[in-house]
This record gives sequence, C-alpha cells and structure tokens, in this order.
Amino acid sequence: MAHILITSGPTREYLDPVRYLTNASSGRMGAALAQAALERGHQVTLVSGPVQITYPPQAQVVRVVTTEEMLQACQELFPRCDGLIGAAAPCDYRTRRVSPEKIQKTGQPLLLELVETPDVVATLGQQKGDRWMVGFALETDDQRFRALTKMEQKSCDLMVLNGPEAMQADTNSVEVLDPGGRTLARLQGTKLHVARGLLRIIQQRLIGPQ
Ligand code: C5P
Repeated sequence: MAHILITSGPTREYLDPVRYLTNASSGRMGAALAQAALERGHQVTLVSGPVQITYPPQAQVVRVVTTEEMLQACQELFPRCDGLIGAAAPCDYRTRRVSPEKIQKTGQPLLLELVETPDVVATLGQQKGDRWMVGFALETDDQRFRALTKMEQKSCDLMVLNGPEAMQADTNSVEVLDPGGRTLARLQGTKLHVARGLLRIIQQRLIGPQ
C-alpha cells in the first residue's frame, strides 16, 4: 500500500476581495485519480483548490485557495507520502499587490502587474528524494515536445499529456510518456477509466507489486 498525494482543481489569486484570476479546472481528474488509487488499496491525500465536485469520502482532503497555499500544504505532506500526482491547474500568476478594497471602475483601462507564482510540482521535485512524481501537461501546440520538457524541468517520472478538450469534461484522451520520450499508453474514455489505466501504469512502473 502506498500513500499517494494528489493535487487537484484550480487555485485562485485574488486581485481584490471579490475578483480573482484562476484556471479552468473542475477537479474531476483529481477525483477520478483518488477513486482509482483507493480501489487499489492505496491511502490518498488530496490537496485541492476550490471545486464544486465531491471527492471520495475515504480520501483525506486538504483545502487551499492560492498556489502558495497549495505549495505549503504539499511541502508539509509530501515527506510522509510515497509519490505525487500533480493533476491540479494552479494559477501561474498573481498580482504583485492585492488591493484590500474592491477596485473601483474609473472608465480607464486597468493595468495589473502580475508576478509568477511558485510551481508546486517543480518545487517538490527538488526535494523528492526516492519519491516518484507524475505530472500532467495540457498543451495546445507542440504537445509532445513541451510535455517532455516539462517532465525534465519538473523532475517527473511520467508525464500525462492531454489537450484543452479535457477541461470541465467528463471524458479525457491522454498519452502517457516516460522520460525517454516513449509512449507507454494512450488512454481514452471517462476520467475514471483513464485514471484506472494510469494507476495501473503507476503501480507497474513506480510502486511495484504489493
Ligand atoms: O501548467 P503546466 O503545464 O506547467 O502544468 C504541468 C504540471 O505542473 C501539472 O502537473 C501541474 O499540476 C503542475 N503545476 C504546478 N504548479 C504550477 C503550475 C503547474 O504544480 N504553478
């Protein structure tokens, strides 16, 4: 039995008390991965941004809002886990300064200065030790090349490549790549079907027989 950490859903970066930047992510892939991991008898901890869906009750769920909070929660939990699946879509930018009051309209363009948020998977990759990590790459162009580059930059042992049609959908179509650039599988169907296929590969290649 492995203890698997799964990041899931979007994060939010507030501009003021009511407005925020975010990513289009429902958390459904994270929920499906949690379900598939639990079916195999693994222990699951989810670190999730704000989502509407419900996660499997047997999974421990840690709720966060911002990317920095997601990173902090994962840094605390990861040392106690055997591996991580990064299925979240953390918001990559935040405003340099969050306005404490609602920004008032002036009739003029509003200029926002955005700075990058930390990359959760890449940061954890620097302290992974003998833990394994699986990343997701949602790309519109140069999909394979970008996925392989991200796998290396983020110290991932496998990368799951999917297209933008996966967002907010119940189904998914993915390619699972190894660090050598080989396609280990093409999985297509409901997110639960894809998650079960991915967990089978993770079990074979990264966790091993129980
Ligand atoms: O957004 P990007 O294509 O770089 O995402 C690739 C992988 O990195 C995904 O597994 C995603 O969960 C993760 N990621 C992250 N923190 C970010 C951006 C992406 O953990 N700030």
